[in-house]
Amino acid sequence: MCGIIGYVGKKECSRFLVDGLKRLEYRGYDSSGIAISRNDQSNFEVRKAEGKIERLEIALRNSPIQGAIGLGHTRWATHGKPNTINAHPHRAGTTVLVHNGIIENFESIREELLARGASIVSETDSELFGHLVEEELKKTATFEEAVRLSFLKLEGSCSIVVVNDRFPGKIVAVRTGTPLVVSRSQKADGCFVASDAQAIVEHTDEVTYLEPRDLVVCTQSEFKIFPIDKKISPENEIKRSATKLDWKMADFDKAGFPHFMLKEIHEQPRAILDTLDLLIERDTMRARMEEIGALVQRASKIQIIACGTAWHAGLVGKYLLESVARVPVEVDLASEYRYRDPVIDEHTLVLAVSQSGETADTLAALREAKRKGAMTAAICNVRGSSMPREVAATLFTAAGPEIGVASTKAFTTQILVFMMLGQFLAHARGVKTKAPDVHFFLQLPHQVQSALELAPLVQKISESCLQSRGYLYIARGRLFPIALEGALKMKEISYVHAEGYPAGELKHGPIAMVESNMTVVVLAPRDELYEKTMSNLQEVKARGGRIVAVGDHDDFSLQKLSDHFIGMRFAHDWSDSILATIPMQLLAYYTAVLKGTDVDKPRNLAKSVTVE
Ligand code: AGP
Repeated sequence: MCGIIGYVGKKECSRFLVDGLKRLEYRGYDSSGIAISRNDQSNFEVRKAEGKIERLEIALRNSPIQGAIGLGHTRWATHGKPNTINAHPHRAGTTVLVHNGIIENFESIREELLARGASIVSETDSELFGHLVEEELKKTATFEEAVRLSFLKLEGSCSIVVVNDRFPGKIVAVRTGTPLVVSRSQKADGCFVASDAQAIVEHTDEVTYLEPRDLVVCTQSEFKIFPIDKKISPENEIKRSATKLDWKMADFDKAGFPHFMLKEIHEQPRAILDTLDLLIERDTMRARMEEIGALVQRASKIQIIACGTAWHAGLVGKYLLESVARVPVEVDLASEYRYRDPVIDEHTLVLAVSQSGETADTLAALREAKRKGAMTAAICNVRGSSMPREVAATLFTAAGPEIGVASTKAFTTQILVFMMLGQFLAHARGVKTKAPDVHFFLQLPHQVQSALELAPLVQKISESCLQSRGYLYIARGRLFPIALEGALKMKEISYVHAEGYPAGELKHGPIAMVESNMTVVVLAPRDELYEKTMSNLQEVKARGGRIVAVGDHDDFSLQKLSDHFIGMRFAHDWSDSILATIPMQLLAYYTAVLKGTDVDKPRNLAKSVTVE
């Protein structure tokens, strides 16, 4: 999960590269660097810095480089410590490159290169590719053919963008697993290549997504795509259609919020409304779900695969779909799924849930399921990303670009999609269910907005609980995944131990942790499981745990039992999972701000985990 950007054109590109890297920083921020040449046979000059892009900007202020062709990279370290030696771009002889992904056979390549006298300076797998190109250039006439032949020696899922001192005005890029987009920008009078469209959104309103095993040659005036597996020649050129970008520049600034995460928490009413617009024909109020509905109708079972927050959405989806579609739904962590030898046949529907559409574990599990003959579908937030291009049907969320590493609006819109799918299937199957009608969904944005108005209360609660030794999040039924999500949010941005647990499991072990300095967050709407949850709460109270309760606004007995009470206006047991998520997000956010962590770019994390 690194960020890549390249430009070749007629304009000074240092700013293009650095601004693009800032938009890609969510993909990884251990170190960054750029390489630029003046396009006049002068060598590429490289500047790199440890840490975030600001450090690179300081290096460039101290020692600027000009030119109209260049590469940029922001890194999440996989091989080698996050220092300037291992930072990209890497130089090997006259070749300079940036890389995203993993070269799995790097050890054997390294040994062979060393045996042939290569002088390797970094600990990375990436640098090795530059040495392979240098060797090929001794035998091959064109730069792009040398890159192609070198790439064929690699195993693993990656994308690499390469330039060479001897071939000015040309960028060559190749990809297998991790994504790359290319675009010819009139505005910038040149071509861009990038890990994703976010990096170049201010220069273009359309991009072409490279497919796995594409090679692209970019020059100032155009780009041409070729298959890696054939000799590069005009008759082998591939024509790929461009994808219009439905983002606007405003999506990429904080709009006055202190952090992207808080902005995106507060964007949820809009994100839900936009997703409803995508999924419902307003005139007929019918859900646009035929494609995926047909797959579910044919399915004898559904296997949901996802990671992290998306997996929590899948757990909610299980409760909703089983209660209405009456088909068995399994939910797996994608990283576990592909190694458990799942039972799959042509009547199995594997449904991948992913904000980015690029998560390596989920992609790998999806490909394994396809190989075993399953039907496949996806719920995804990024058009043009890999997953929607590899499945039979996709339900897109319309949360807009999610910049904060901690997922918020993507999660609640994923749950909404499951709610809509459940409601659609209930009608399609004539299942008598308490699924709400479509008009109910149109109230959701207002209900979420009123939940957001609890922010000042939640901020105060985060102050009172700040010294907690840890956080235990408990709930039952379809709110148990929200307890897991609340704990993940707290962990990943506050760096504090937090654990989600089914409330009924408390007495089977975790209650041993309960003491005055352990904060127990409980989700307890007055639903069919309320009484059970209340008795779990009494157990916590009896042991002196600090209780933060989320319940119905007029539930005075719950309020009396709690140290801190967040009263919600739950409207329906189908939407309480979305509404209960809001205080979970806010509690983690305000705690992280008080802890002084980097809320939008927490340490060791990246937004899209494109390596396994
Ligand atoms: C969520 O806050 C985390 N950033 C992480 O768990 C994330 O949900 C996970 O990596 C899956 O990402 P995806 O939805 O893009 O597949």
